[in-house]
Amino acid sequence: MPANITEEVSRRRTFAIIAHPDAGKTTLTEKLLLFGGAIQLAGEVKAKKDRINTRSDWMAIERERGISVVTSVMTFEYEDAIFNLLDTPGHEDFADDTYRTLSAVDSAVMVIDGAKGIEPRTLKLFEVCRMRDIPIVTFINKMDREARDPFEILEEIEQKLALDTAPVNWPIGMGKNFAGTYNLKENSVRQRDADTDAVKVNGPESDQAAGLLPANERDAFIESCGLARELCHPFDKKAFMEGHLTPVYFGSALKNYGVRDLINALADFGPQPRDQEADTRIVHATEEKMSAFVFKIQANMDPNHRDRIAFVRVCSGTLERGMKAKLVRTGKPMSLSAPQFFFARSRQIADEAFAGDVVGIPNHGTLRIGDTLTEGEDFLFRGVPNFAPEILRRVRLDDAMKAKKLKEALAQMAEEGVVQLFSPEDGSPAIVGVVGALQLDVLKERLSSEYTLPVSFEMSRFSVCRWISVTGMWSVNSTWRAISRPASNSG
Ligand code: G4P
Repeated sequence: MPANITEEVSRRRTFAIIAHPDAGKTTLTEKLLLFGGAIQLAGEVKAKKDRINTRSDWMAIERERGISVVTSVMTFEYEDAIFNLLDTPGHEDFADDTYRTLSAVDSAVMVIDGAKGIEPRTLKLFEVCRMRDIPIVTFINKMDREARDPFEILEEIEQKLALDTAPVNWPIGMGKNFAGTYNLKENSVRQRDADTDAVKVNGPESDQAAGLLPANERDAFIESCGLARELCHPFDKKAFMEGHLTPVYFGSALKNYGVRDLINALADFGPQPRDQEADTRIVHATEEKMSAFVFKIQANMDPNHRDRIAFVRVCSGTLERGMKAKLVRTGKPMSLSAPQFFFARSRQIADEAFAGDVVGIPNHGTLRIGDTLTEGEDFLFRGVPNFAPEILRRVRLDDAMKAKKLKEALAQMAEEGVVQLFSPEDGSPAIVGVVGALQLDVLKERLSSEYTLPVSFEMSRFSVCRWISVTGMWSVNSTWRAISRPASNSG
């Protein structure tokens, strides 16, 4: 294999941040981007309503509601490493989008609010990571506020997530006395993350550590450092890579504590692009031939561009600008003439991308979620999940003259994965299916702003929609009869 590919792959860190809403994911994202030089000015994240400064927020609806509903991809360099940070919507109504995104990462940072501990959404997202054996680095945020006792938080993670914890740094105080972090292994103190280097000290009792705290808090800090060293798991890279142990960092994204520790950790021991399972074989990240899969489609990301971008995760080889790739689903070649790297709203043509990289490929509907691209070999990556819709609605159009336009717009939204579209065989109007109710709001907003189609929703005569798979002697028709008739009548 060419040395270049091996070297390039080893520099890549492709990860997502998982968190319960409000735990501080946006703030942490912003700080990571700042350290990576991807933005110049973080400013403290303001009230969510006017969070226009957070450049990963795209859509008006996001800003109005203060939730991240769109998955964005941000590429940035830090020291020798190249990070691809895949932002996931925190709200559970966008679970399908989040799960698809998690199929494209190699690790995850789990952000926990130090006062609240493990919250329901954290738990859910963690379970998805565990199913995929994604290694997790934990960041206990908001230590500048009154938080829980660090041991209590670690114990909660161990019990609720059945995951061993290995604290790497330890908070020096908390709340208004939070003074920084103490590295338990290296005996160093980091006060503010604007300073790149941590200061080596003689121990927790030194002036540069305990000395930063008011006199009445010093003994407790020294004792807790000692206990953490004695009682907690030491960091074990193998256990981390296998998803059994999480290194834990305490800090405050808002006040810049612990963030540098975290980004250094990802650069030092964060997993490089993993080998991927395809239907016929395992594809190694350092293979020479290019392969990639589509995990997200997004149209009209930039209203000025009116474009449609497929986000692909490169799994092996080098994706080069202008190369011809095979779209395995159709067997047809397609030219990758303008692959792009993304940083929230700004983008840049990608001349070459390696395993781990996420690039956007502009296209006119050729690429679909789950598609595999190769240099000719016939295999399919299997990782991108499908979801059964929980809510089914008919779309009611205010202006009947625009029915054709609506049909096209809905087809586009379905290809993007915003909604699922079902066309009844009797020719009655299409039904949209979503996993969470907020997705309907996004659909409505986007149809109105991007296609000037004001719509409303009506109840559908269907309430459940499921895929049926049949094995053995049964045919789909006989299964359907069995389902649609009462049991006594089946046959
Ligand atoms: P999210 O994306 O996970 O939903 O969280 P986000 O970063 O938006 O942060 C949620 C709130 O918590 C924000 O407050 C933010 O400023 C605050 N926050 C984030 N990290 C820290 C931290 O390390 N320390 C402290 N003290 N606060 C932090 P907000 O929306 O402006 O207002 P409010 O929710 O506090 O009222």
